[in-house]
Amino acid sequence: GDTITVRDLTEKIGKSASEIIKKLFLLGNMATINSEIDFDTAQLVCSDFEITLERKQEQTAEAALVAEDFDDAEENLQPRPPVVTIMGHVDHGKTSLLDYIRKSRVTAGEAGGITQHIGAYTVDVDGRKITFLDTPGHEAFTAMRARGTQATDIAVLVVAADDSVMPQTVESINHAKAAEVPVIVAINKMDKPDANPDRVKQDLTQYGLVCEDWGGETICVPVSAVTGQGVDDLLEMILLQADMLQLQANPNRLGKGVIIEAKLDKARGPLATVLLQNGTLHVGDSIIAGLASGKVRALINDKGERVSEAGPSMPVEIMGFDDVPSAGDEMIAVGDDHLSRQVADERREKIKASREATMAKMSMENLFSSI
Ligand code: GTP
Ligand code: MG
Repeated sequence: GDTITVRDLTEKIGKSASEIIKKLFLLGNMATINSEIDFDTAQLVCSDFEITLERKQEQTAEAALVAEDFDDAEENLQPRPPVVTIMGHVDHGKTSLLDYIRKSRVTAGEAGGITQHIGAYTVDVDGRKITFLDTPGHEAFTAMRARGTQATDIAVLVVAADDSVMPQTVESINHAKAAEVPVIVAINKMDKPDANPDRVKQDLTQYGLVCEDWGGETICVPVSAVTGQGVDDLLEMILLQADMLQLQANPNRLGKGVIIEAKLDKARGPLATVLLQNGTLHVGDSIIAGLASGKVRALINDKGERVSEAGPSMPVEIMGFDDVPSAGDEMIAVGDDHLSRQVADERREKIKASREATMAKMSMENLFSSI
C-alpha cells in the first residue's frame, strides 16, 4: 500500500530516525522506528526538512498505453466521413431504409460482392462517404455510451408516418440527447395511404424536436424505404449536417476505434468489427481491445473484400485477436508488440483480483450469516 516505515523513510531521505520521530511527535503522532506512516504524513515530515516527497508513478503497461496517446496537431487533421446511427421504434423501417440505401448506392460491379454482413457499412454519395451503423450497432451505441465512448456523429431517427411517435422513438431521442448527437428525422412509410407526416411533426414537438418547416431547427425528411422517395434528400441532409460538424481525424497515426460487434468463428477464430475513429489500421499491427490482444492477420471490409488497411470512419472486420472482445470496447493499435499482450494480461489480472476479493467478501458474509 501507500505507507512507509520510519526506518525506510530514514534511508530514503538521509535523516536520522530520532529526527523523524521528533517531527512525527510534534505532529501528534507517537511513532517508533518500526511504525508505518501514510504518504500524507511522510510528506508533512519531509516538507519540514524541505524535502519534496513524490508518489512514484506505477509503471503499468496500461499507463504506457495511455502515454502513447496524444492530441493530433491541427495540421495533421483531415476531413473524415460521418458515422450515422439509425434509431427508432420497432418495425418503423430502420433495416428497410438501410437496405434501400445500401442497394441504391452499390455500383453494378459490386452488387454481387456484398456477402458479408458486418453490422456497419459505408456508402458513396456523390464521391463522398457516409458510414452507417446497423441495428446491432444500436446495441453498441448503448454500450459505448455507458463507457463514455462516442462513435456516432449523427443519429437518424426513423418514425413511421402511419404510426408516429412510439415508446422506442422517445427512448432513441433520449439516447441521442444524452450523447449530444444531432438528430435528423426520417419520416418513413410515406407511400402508405394512411401516412400522416403532420401528426409525426406535431408529436415530435413534445420531445423538443421541432421540424424546420414548423419554425424549428430539426431537419425532417419524408421518405419511403419501399419506393425510395426522399432517400437522396436524406443522404444530402446527412452530408450537410456532417459539413457543419467539421469532422476530422489524423489518418497518419496508429489506428484507434471501437468494437461494434465480435464473435467466435469456428474456422477463423475471433472476429471483431471495429469502427476506426482515428488513424489507420494495417495488417500486421499489434492491437488490444478489452481483454483481447493480438496482431492483425487480415482485414475484411464491408463488401467482404480483403484490404490491407482501413482509415478513419471506416468499419472493418479484424482477424487476429486471441480472444473475443466485447461490443463497445475501445480498440487501440500499438507500436510495441509486447505492450498489447502486457496490457491484456494486466487487465485480466485486475479482473481476477477483484473477482477474488468479491468471492472472499461473499464467503466471509456467508460465514457470519451462518453463525
Ligand atoms: P426492427 O429491426 O424489428 O426494429 O424493425 P425495423 O425498424 O428495422 O423495420 P423493418 O425495416 O424490418 O420494417 C418493418 C416492416 O415495415 C416491414 O414489413 C417492411 O417491409 C415495412 N416497411 C419498412 N419501410 C417501409 C416503407 O417505407 N413503406 C412501407 N409500405 N412499408 C415499409
Ligand atoms: Mg431492423
